[in-house]
Amino acid sequence: MKKWIAILATTTLLSPLCTAQAADDYPNRAITWIVPFSAGGPTDAMARNIANRLSKEIKQTILVENKPGAGGTIGATAAARSDPDGYTFLVGHIGYMAAAPTLYPELRYDPVKDFEAVFRFPDTPLVLLVGANSPYKTIDELVAFGKANPGSLNFSNAGVGSTSHLVAAMFASKAGMTITPIAYKGAGPALNDLMGGQVDAMFDQTNTALPQTRGGKVHALGLTSPTRMDQFPNVPTMKEKAVPGFQVSTWYGLYAPKGTPSNVVDTLAAAYKTIMQDKAFTQQMSDQGILLLSDADYAPKAFQHHTVEEGKRWAQVIKKAGIKLK
Ligand code: MLT
Repeated sequence: MKKWIAILATTTLLSPLCTAQAADDYPNRAITWIVPFSAGGPTDAMARNIANRLSKEIKQTILVENKPGAGGTIGATAAARSDPDGYTFLVGHIGYMAAAPTLYPELRYDPVKDFEAVFRFPDTPLVLLVGANSPYKTIDELVAFGKANPGSLNFSNAGVGSTSHLVAAMFASKAGMTITPIAYKGAGPALNDLMGGQVDAMFDQTNTALPQTRGGKVHALGLTSPTRMDQFPNVPTMKEKAVPGFQVSTWYGLYAPKGTPSNVVDTLAAAYKTIMQDKAFTQQMSDQGILLLSDADYAPKAFQHHTVEEGKRWAQVIKKAGIKLK
């Protein structure tokens, strides 16, 4: 009996060292990235842009698969349950990787225990948008109407826990008005209905808001960035105009299901670090209003720490703003 226990203990003690390692020629087949929002939104656009550049670096196809629904938690659940073999990853996001545990009591994954952070994408601030024919030309006009007509302003969003949902709820709470959230399966369809006049306003990320703003299909009233942005001339920040201290950006990044071999994480993190040194590539992101971070921020360990800390922070923000699932 003692011998058997000794063998078990040895095996158990060594088990972290025994995590299977991917083949030396990894990746030797196509990789899948799950994006838990509809195609055409900012997360999808950011993921496809990075996947396209990274696939050239690793000389392997990266397939982006949209699995939308429930603020991204459906896709995140599928990713958490996927085989940790280095060929399926989650494009994670502030919503379903930090806010969801507080908003979804029945959540079927743990953002920290069920995933390994691989690398962080750059951030995107959000833009308060109204339709091209909106009567509201400033934040003040929108807030004045919203306060005088509780519940009358329809804000489209990408589902409960998305930043388009969270930021609109925080804005309404701080501005002292009641809005009506209208949930879609991504910011893409949410923006389409704003442009079509079906809803009154939304917060969209800069990378997808910019082309529609420049095209005159929507008007930008405010930015959630720390400072004004050249890409949105004459558009004030929310914190200078509406709500002191009101600044937030959507963060994203790549996560592997827990148990993925460490050499897979190292291989992809190193390739990502290389493409983020490509000035032409990073400049086209900056031109979209994307906020570049540092190499240290992008790295696996820093991203894992960020995920943990953001989960704690958003639990407090959500409770303070009284944001609920229903
Ligand atoms: C959000 O947080 O609103 C999402 O980024 C929307 C999306 O990417 O579709």
